[in-house]
Amino acid sequence: MAVTSFMLAGCTHTGAGALEKLSAELSTRGLKKPLVVTDKGVVKAGILEKVQAVLKAAGIPCEVFDETVPNPTDVNVEACRKLYEEKGCDCLVAVGGGSSMDCAKGCGVIAGRKKTINDFEGVGLLEGPMPFFVAVPTTAGTGSETTLFAVITSTKEAHPRKTVVADPRMLPNVGIVDPLLMLDLPPHITASTGMDAMTHAVEGLISRLTYEYPIAFCKESIRLIARYLPRAVGNGHDVEAREKMAYAQTMAGMGFSNAGVGVVHGMAHPLSAFYGIAHGDANAVLLPYGLEYNKMVRMDAIAEIAELIGVKTCGMSTLDAANAAIAGIQELNALLGIPRTISELAKQRGLKVDKKDIPALAQDAMKDISMTFNPRIATQKEIEARYELAWG
Ligand SMILES: [Fe+2]
Repeated sequence: MAVTSFMLAGCTHTGAGALEKLSAELSTRGLKKPLVVTDKGVVKAGILEKVQAVLKAAGIPCEVFDETVPNPTDVNVEACRKLYEEKGCDCLVAVGGGSSMDCAKGCGVIAGRKKTINDFEGVGLLEGPMPFFVAVPTTAGTGSETTLFAVITSTKEAHPRKTVVADPRMLPNVGIVDPLLMLDLPPHITASTGMDAMTHAVEGLISRLTYEYPIAFCKESIRLIARYLPRAVGNGHDVEAREKMAYAQTMAGMGFSNAGVGVVHGMAHPLSAFYGIAHGDANAVLLPYGLEYNKMVRMDAIAEIAELIGVKTCGMSTLDAANAAIAGIQELNALLGIPRTISELAKQRGLKVDKKDIPALAQDAMKDISMTFNPRIATQKEIEARYELAWG
C-alpha cells in the first residue's frame, strides 16, 4: 500500500454572501495591496465592483488587471506579472472563471523571478512560494480555487499549445465560492462550465491514481451536478441550485487536483488551443467518447456513475450499467443543449474546425500531462481514432 498525500486549499468559504470574507482574509495577514486579476466579462457583469466595494469598506485599495483572455497565454501572464511588479502589489485575488484563475496563478509563479511561465511547464518546478493567493470563482466549473494546476497556452511553438504547470505551492491560500456571484451567468456558460466540473469529477473518479479521498469527493460531485446543473441552466436565479453547483465544482476540484484527470482533458486542450473552443464545451462533447475508451479497464467505476446520475441499475450487469452511465451523460448533455459531436459544436458556436488537423491534435494530446493519469495508456493512433469518432 502506498502512502497518499491529500492536498487542499488553506481555507474554502462557500455559500451565499461568502465574498464578505475577502477583506478579513487579507487584513488579518497585514496584506494591503492586492492585484485583482479578472476579465472584461466579469467587469461588465458588475462583479468586479462588488469585490472592490468589499475591499474598500475595509480600507484596502486594489490594483486591477482585467486583460485576461480566454485560454490565457504566456503573453497574457507576462502582462499580468508586469503590472503586479510595477504597482508593488503584495498578494493576488483572482476573480472570474478558469482563465482568470490560471492567469493569476501563472503571474504568482513568475512574480519576482526572471523567467517566463513556459519555464515552469511540468510538475513541481516552482522555485519558491507564490504570493498570498485568493481565488474567487464566478463560474461553477473549474474548481481552480482548490487545485494545484494552471493551464497556460504557449505561443512559442508552430501553433498554440496548452501547457500545464502543477505544484502544491500553487494551491490557493483561500477560496471564496459565492453562488450569488454566479446568478447572472448565461445558460450556455452555466452548462459548459458545469460539464467541465462533471468531467473533473468523472476523470478524478476513474484516474489511475485515484484513491479513497478523491473517490468520495468525485462521487458526491457527480451526484450533485446531475441533479442541480439542469436546474441552474433552466433558471440562473435558482439560488439553491447555484449553491449546490458551487459545492459540487469545488469538490470535483478537491478530487481531481489529487487524482488527476485523463484522456478527455488531454483531447480537449488541443481543441481549445487550435480553434478557441471553450474548455467546458470540449470536455462535455468528449466525455462520452472518453468513457467509452476507458470502459474496458474501469468498468466497475464507470458502472457506479449510472446510479450517481439517477439511472436505476438494479438487475443490470456491470457492462450494461457502464453503458447506461455513458448514455446518461449523453442525455444530460442533450438536456443542457450541448451537441454530440465536435463538428456540431463548432457549427453551433460559429467556430471553424478542420478534420485534417486530427493527427496534429492527437500529437498535442499525447504531450498533455492529463494523459499520464488516464487509466488506459493511449497510443497516438487510438487518440486519432477517438477524435474521428467524436468529430461526427
Ligand atoms: Fe477542466
